[in-house]
Amino acid sequence: MRAKGRVFLVDDDDLIVSMLARSLRLAGYEVQAETDPAGVVEKIRAFAPQLVLLDLKLPDASGMDILAELGEGGGGAQVVMLTSDDSAESAVKAMKAGAVDYLTKPFDLEEVKLVVASIMQRWSLRQEVGYLRKINAGQDHKDLVGPSAPLQALKQQAEKLARAGVPAVLITGENGTGKEMLARYVHRLMHPGEGEAGTPFIGINCAALPEHLIESELFGHEKGAFTDAKVESQGIFELASGGSVLLDEIGEMKLALQAKLLRTLEEWKVRRLGGRHDIPIQATVFATTNRDLEAAVERGEFRIDLYYRLATFRLHIPPLRERRGDVVPLAEHFLATFAAKYGRARPAEFSAEARDLLVAHAWPGNVRELRNTVERLVVLESGPVILPEHLPREVLEPRPPAAAPAATPVPTPAPGAEPEFSLPEGGISLEDLESTLILQALAKTGRNKVQAAKLLGMTYDSFRYQVKKLGLD
Ligand SMILES: Nc1ncnc2c1ncn2[C@@H]1O[C@H](COP(=O)(O)OP(=O)(O)OP(=O)(O)O)[C@@H](O)[C@H]1O
Ligand SMILES: [Mg+2]
Repeated sequence: MRAKGRVFLVDDDDLIVSMLARSLRLAGYEVQAETDPAGVVEKIRAFAPQLVLLDLKLPDASGMDILAELGEGGGGAQVVMLTSDDSAESAVKAMKAGAVDYLTKPFDLEEVKLVVASIMQRWSLRQEVGYLRKINAGQDHKDLVGPSAPLQALKQQAEKLARAGVPAVLITGENGTGKEMLARYVHRLMHPGEGEAGTPFIGINCAALPEHLIESELFGHEKGAFTDAKVESQGIFELASGGSVLLDEIGEMKLALQAKLLRTLEEWKVRRLGGRHDIPIQATVFATTNRDLEAAVERGEFRIDLYYRLATFRLHIPPLRERRGDVVPLAEHFLATFAAKYGRARPAEFSAEARDLLVAHAWPGNVRELRNTVERLVVLESGPVILPEHLPREVLEPRPPAAAPAATPVPTPAPGAEPEFSLPEGGISLEDLESTLILQALAKTGRNKVQAAKLLGMTYDSFRYQVKKLGLD
């Protein structure tokens, strides 16, 4: 049977340890138990549990110190404190320091199992839905490579925003352009010298979770606020206090939640679900989107007041095809990164022809596509020089750029040719896409319908019909 999850148990009482360990193992968990606090933090890190049950009073050490050493949120694990009933006060202190709950001795085994099951359930749900919570960024995120003029200008803007300490930044750009990376860059500039571990940077993907979960993740909840709320939980805004919150794919957030978020950004307070008090928060909010938020506002899908609050300070990352000067430096950066990762003694280099082909490619998946391409090359090609024949087919056969100038006739795709636009995994609303394109064409042409129709390869009459049908006039 696959274990339901890993639990690390720290208590100096042999009896308690063996009783809890046995009952949790019987319930299907993988358990590691320690009675000696020496070196326990390293052991916890090595075991990488989802949950740590930690005795508050240990010989020669306090559970609080271990909790602090584990870092914010237990270094990825949730921590539940084990206390004797006379230490309720310190239990509360432990919760403030990041423990999610406490259990009082003598234990009711059923209660212990319930608390463990509820924490594990949340954990596995997060795994399933692609929950994104990154407190410590990987090394990979350190260098924002981009010598091109647009990226240099963007970095300067980012530095200004960081210096001013602005409360919220909207970061827009196509898929894979580096929005999250830029958010982390600004975050680091705002907290220089503190190191990544010092200041929390916590993100949530607004497209990956059901609405009620996003709400409880953002704002936290009290015990019993809803059926599954077996333990109280701090929200991301609380956890990230002093640091940053990343709201990834903000364009997917539902209207009801947008209203709550707006209140948070106006008052800088949150109230946990089921809570009675407002908790003041202090965090920089980064919202990212690859959607056209203005169009979403026009369609009534995004609150205009929230839009203005987020978009006061805005950073737009142009697609890679509009900053081709970054392609080779990025490719070489990834070559070195992956050579090191896969233990290659000497990173290969690109031949001049290969470099030209990389620059000519339109990179519809932007920097992420380039990164993945280079990673494959490092793994699959062992020679010292990367030649054109090593490059993937789509790089060898450059397609016309996605945004062709208006005067060029729309090319009819050759039979068997791949379409230029590929349907995203999660599907798309054709109507939304149509509306977006029409609004963009109108914006580009200063609302000149004749020219906008031309841009979209439509007759004036059918263009007007569509505009009416979609309610865009
Ligand atoms: N300027 C850059 N320098 C180095 N690496 C970069 C740069 N821009 C992006 N990357 C890398 O490309 C990948 C995609 O970046 P990131 O996740 O920040 O993009 P994104 O815009 O948030 O993508 P999505 O729209 O899919 O959420 C990451 O691995 C990131 O490290
Ligand atoms: Mg992203």
